[in-house]
Amino acid sequence: MKKHFKYLVTAALPYANSFIHIGHISGAYLPPDIFVRYKRLNDEDVIFISGSDEHGTAIEMASISEKVTPQEIIDRYHFANKKAFEDLGINFDIYSRTSNKIHHDTAQEFFLNIYNKNILVQKTEKQLFSEKENRFLADRFVTGTCPVCGYEEARGDECSNCGSNLSPLELINPRSKITGDIPVIKESTHYYFPLGDYQEKLEKWLDGKRGWKQNVMNYCKGWLKAGLRDRAISRDLDWGVKIPVEGNDGKVIYVWFEAPIGYISATKELFTERNEPDKWKDYWMNEDTKLIHFIGKDNIVFHSIIFPAMLMAHGDYILPDNVPANEFMNFEGEKQSKSKGTGVLVKDITAKFEPDVIRYTLASNMPENKDSEFVWKDLQVKNNSELAGILGNFINRTVVFTKNKFDNRVPEIISIPETEDGILAFLIRSLRN
Ligand code: 2FM
Ligand code: ZN
Repeated sequence: MKKHFKYLVTAALPYANSFIHIGHISGAYLPPDIFVRYKRLNDEDVIFISGSDEHGTAIEMASISEKVTPQEIIDRYHFANKKAFEDLGINFDIYSRTSNKIHHDTAQEFFLNIYNKNILVQKTEKQLFSEKENRFLADRFVTGTCPVCGYEEARGDECSNCGSNLSPLELINPRSKITGDIPVIKESTHYYFPLGDYQEKLEKWLDGKRGWKQNVMNYCKGWLKAGLRDRAISRDLDWGVKIPVEGNDGKVIYVWFEAPIGYISATKELFTERNEPDKWKDYWMNEDTKLIHFIGKDNIVFHSIIFPAMLMAHGDYILPDNVPANEFMNFEGEKQSKSKGTGVLVKDITAKFEPDVIRYTLASNMPENKDSEFVWKDLQVKNNSELAGILGNFINRTVVFTKNKFDNRVPEIISIPETEDGILAFLIRSLRN
């Protein structure tokens, strides 16, 4: 008998510090929405989860530079992005937020679970500290020259030019992103997740995977080959999920540790809203569930190595079945980027065009195996020639023909000519496959 799986489909939680653009949509949101629509049409058991990622230095920085509270920043972008998805017909079962209490509780429970099993390691490390601002300069709070490619505006956590993962101390000529202050070095104690301890288990788990995209597998193999190392999972910041262990005032859980736990919290919230508060376990604690994370390529390591290792450490939850990551969709020859002000925002394009025209244009040019390109001319051609000219015309002729020749009714099938029989058989075969 055919086994019936449940599908738990997630789409990356976008940071609530900017408006989403069509590059995000074509990479991480339209593909799962199409997948989920298909499953729903087939009456399969599927839930579709996403929400705003509302912590991290990007949000705290935006609040400092705009002189407003982080809450104001996340409220602005959370509701705008939620509406943008709705306007495009992207139908999540829940679009949650990581600032919700249920998420803070779930993330702290997760942290405590592995802390109590003595899995975490504490280390005292040297960190950059701004005396002027009286704060440690974590991740994006610091900028400097990339030691790998020489780019002068690299962030403390990553170089946006060459993609290298960095730590603030590796930057050459570091300075505070907010004040330009040159930091000093000071010690701070942090919790580390021993990712290296999960290397063998991860290798075995990934070896057993079939049907993963080549780009994702290659990326993972590259990380495994380089050897996995301990990763700091706490930060000296005010904004975030507090470390739930005494003596850690001023420290929060690293955003990339708690954000994926947001998929679990959002599922809990969904079923609490539906008055079935325990039903989330039927998905997250059930080997007959296929957990599928749709993401953009910049999120691969977090979803296919780090989060699975966290889930292995916790032990109560299923692991991802697949992590389909797409490449990027560029815009008229340039990368779509908030900081450079390039690209097309969803709120702007949906104000001008119908969602199906946008969806069709993006879907027919999805960056599945390599980066793709959005050009306005293409939207015009897709709309005028393909949707109106070919599909619209076909439907119009069929309707007019039915009106004129069959008195506005679809006639009963008496016999199917051989040629059409072939087409039907082909369609049924394609649907079954
Ligand atoms: O890249 C991003 O926008 C992240 N906020 C994605 C997080 S996905 C998940 F882990 F929450
Ligand atoms: Zn670089």
